[in-house]
Amino acid sequence: MIAPIHPIDTHGHHIILVGLMGCGKTTIGKALSKRTGMPLLDMDSVIEEQVGKPIPEIFAESGENYFRALETALLRYLLDAKRVPTIISTGGGVVLRPENRALLRQLGFCVWLRASVKVLAVRTSYSNSRPLLREGNALEKLQKLHTERRPLYRKTAHCVLESSRLDVPTVVTSICRQADKYFLNMLPHWEK
Ligand code: S3P
Repeated sequence: MIAPIHPIDTHGHHIILVGLMGCGKTTIGKALSKRTGMPLLDMDSVIEEQVGKPIPEIFAESGENYFRALETALLRYLLDAKRVPTIISTGGGVVLRPENRALLRQLGFCVWLRASVKVLAVRTSYSNSRPLLREGNALEKLQKLHTERRPLYRKTAHCVLESSRLDVPTVVTSICRQADKYFLNMLPHWEK
């Protein structure tokens, strides 16, 4: 993979993974980080660290809107910070706010990892850490979220990859190829 773009202006040089809970953002993010040498930043983990509480507790004590505001604040911070090119793994609902969608695209190359609702339901059933899936029928809730958010992921992402059937190395290779093309297009013409 080519080294992401310009050494002076580091804006827009990150690779951002979006998609529903269980689509593989964390797993793919780790593998991508290993392959490219780019550091991985997991937004949920950063928020938990900053607040000093796990996400279910943040939702229970302060509500979803508060959590969404923390996501926006973190995205704004990342855009202002002169960070080295980074793999950013997002929370599934980050695309809900229009401002976030714009921030994500400004941050760099956005990849939507899409998986079938059945696969998402199996993958998310192993942990109880997602407040939005804690009560009721997880499959139905995921179906609803999938229907609501699909257009938002589509609007946000520069590319979409199916993560249900493909193995991790294949998804990572595909992201690297597409990111190369994207970053190459961003180069000023005299550097191409
Ligand atoms: C959420 C997804 C979670 C986490 C929070 C809300 C969502 O992240 O941000 O529980 O609204 O879909 P993952 O997608 O990493 O599970």
